[in-house]
Amino acid sequence: MSLPLHHLDLNRPDFIADPYADLARLREETPIFYDESWNKVFFTRHADISALLRDKRLGRSILHILSRDELGWPPPDPRLKEFQRFQDNVFMDWEPPAHTRLRSLVSKVFTPKRVESLRGKLEATVHQLIDAVEADGGCDFVRDIAEPLPVAMIADLLGVPEADRHRLRPWSAAIVKMYELGYTDEQAEEANRAASEFMSYIGELAAERRLHPQDDLISGLVQVEEAGQTLSEDELRATCIFLLNAGHEATVNGSALGLRALLGHPEQLAALKEAVAGGDVSLLKTGVDEMLRYDTPLPMFERYVLEDLEIGGVRLERGMEVALLYISGNRDPLRFERADQFDLARRDNPLLTFGLGTHYCLGAPLARLEMQVLFGTLLRRLPNVHLAGEAEFARGFVIRGLASLPIGF
Ligand code: HEM
Repeated sequence: MSLPLHHLDLNRPDFIADPYADLARLREETPIFYDESWNKVFFTRHADISALLRDKRLGRSILHILSRDELGWPPPDPRLKEFQRFQDNVFMDWEPPAHTRLRSLVSKVFTPKRVESLRGKLEATVHQLIDAVEADGGCDFVRDIAEPLPVAMIADLLGVPEADRHRLRPWSAAIVKMYELGYTDEQAEEANRAASEFMSYIGELAAERRLHPQDDLISGLVQVEEAGQTLSEDELRATCIFLLNAGHEATVNGSALGLRALLGHPEQLAALKEAVAGGDVSLLKTGVDEMLRYDTPLPMFERYVLEDLEIGGVRLERGMEVALLYISGNRDPLRFERADQFDLARRDNPLLTFGLGTHYCLGAPLARLEMQVLFGTLLRRLPNVHLAGEAEFARGFVIRGLASLPIGF
């Protein structure tokens, strides 16, 4: 079968805000298509996406088996040298066995036990954030609650001092712009500068921890580096930065999109309030997963084809790039009953939001706990929470979220 052609205008603001009707049509009529302008094969159905994520013939990188020359790629942009130095050392973009080495090291910190031990701190942080705005009768949920909470948690885990935390968000925001399809020259320059400053900053912090180790992840990684010589200085710095970024960007957006969905469904909101007030946490658990399925904060990830393969009657050749629309798979009626319905009690919910396979999100237990504590505490403290204006979407599809969400309480 030859591939149907279609162009997906991912960066159109109305598509970013509500891509679901377009995606439903594609899933039905053209579930797999080639987009010439992005030079990628797009997949929209849950079954195809989950099969590809589990298939070892695809990977997040390809440069471990083919050179840039062999792939016909231009040389790396010298203006992006610092960004590239960071990105080349991000283990999410490696494949086994190099990937396994770093992933197993970092996963020690994200064990269910360690994550659960953060519950008290998380609750205290949510209370503090609510204390700061309660008397005002309203706030911007993104700026005042959704953003500071995960930033504080991941900075705490890593060991970034409180006084420096305000620097993290702007660096991260500049870096993640590079993951959008079609960034501007200005964004590229910003990202390069942010990567350079962030790498130096983490280098200084690591040097300090080498002298005075503490019970945090930076100290842990420094000690590994010294003991086994298995982590280079750039790997150490890039891993910390990557964790700081991955550890908050999607959680901010998942929480904001989740609250928007919740406040837009009064009967679901009432049920969750009642469950929370009665101390029943089961609806909170299924509910957070439903929020993450219903409106997906990281809609799309890509893979390279490492070996020729066939899927859905389509032949993919080595070197091709595929774009997997998790956001579409999450609404696929072939996999989800009443896929477009927001149902906090949904039990059969194989959401693609955290990925699958080799690169399955290492922070999923932390993200889930953060959102469960956030929504539980919010509804207990502010039971009259309601929308107080229009939600404003941020620009960008690959990292999708709200710039602001005015709420009253
Ligand atoms: C709602 C919040 C989050 C969402 C939706 C999310 C989503 C994802 C997804 C989809 C992937 C896999 C990417 C792919 O398939 O190519 C991933 C990987 C990863 N995430 Fe998350 N994430 C979230 C929160 C977190 C948090 C809190 C952390 C904590 C540090 C984290 C750390 C990571 C790491 C380290 C990886 C790389 C795993 C690997 O390559 O082995 N994430 N995340």
